[in-house]
Amino acid sequence: MKTARQTLKEAERKKVAVGHFNISDLAGLNAITEAVAELKVPVFIGTSEGEAKFLDRKAIAAYIKTLREELKLPIFLNSDHTHSFEEVKKAVAAGYDMILFDGGTLPIGENIRQTKKIVKYVRSKNKNILIEGELGNIGSGSTIRKELPAGAAIKLEDLTRTEDAAKFVRETGVDMLAPAVGNIHGMFANAPEPALNIRRIKEIKDAVKIPLVLHGGSGNTDSDFLASIEAGVNVIHISTELRLAWRKGMEGSLAGNPEEIAAYKLFSLVISSVKQVAIKRLQLFNKLV
Ligand code: G3H
Ligand code: ZN
Repeated sequence: MKTARQTLKEAERKKVAVGHFNISDLAGLNAITEAVAELKVPVFIGTSEGEAKFLDRKAIAAYIKTLREELKLPIFLNSDHTHSFEEVKKAVAAGYDMILFDGGTLPIGENIRQTKKIVKYVRSKNKNILIEGELGNIGSGSTIRKELPAGAAIKLEDLTRTEDAAKFVRETGVDMLAPAVGNIHGMFANAPEPALNIRRIKEIKDAVKIPLVLHGGSGNTDSDFLASIEAGVNVIHISTELRLAWRKGMEGSLAGNPEEIAAYKLFSLVISSVKQVAIKRLQLFNKLV
């Protein structure tokens, strides 16, 4: 079985993107596990600080390690949007395979200082852990939106600048970079997402020469996804679409089975609903269709 690092390298070589899906519970994880088993492609599972606390870091890390080792499924765990050194330490101790230290909204000098310290710490503990840095503001929260998230960089002059990206990667030594290139966390209920700036993605990729991570994938168009992969994106994060599928599945399940009280039976529609979204995204990101 390939390591997370080898998986990322292979995605770069094959010009595809690894799907990164956030989970809050085992129903979400089961749905993604089924999609992985069916399509035979790797995935990264993400837990935000809130999701990690709810699931328990050690428990979910052990669970995913077991899926990988016993069932031979290429599933890796990412400590998504980790905002402090303390939280990074918890992820390392729990056995996470990768960590995103998110200093995206800090001034660049401070972001570099903190990210560098984290890279040094994580490498000293375990060289196999992948480290991602974030540069630029894409708003926070995987929610259904009525308006753009506060502070999110959408205008050309606010996107991550290529020279900043080059400096950030050179000075921190991260393995992957998450830039602000027109992407936002969350999605609009009834309106299209802002378009991605493919030219900026390509410029950043040419300058940093490491895999780029596209956050805030929910709601973006298939053609923008494919163009971003072509330009240098090798990991794409999806969360809001899965949360929405989870909720719709649960609503359908409760409405269709008013007498049912067995949780695992009620969850079967949640799992198939989330799985459908994961399959669709994985097929696209891995160019299977
Ligand atoms: O880190 C999580 C992702 O970037 C998810 O973004 O909720 O817009 O899909 P999304
Ligand atoms: Zn994100």
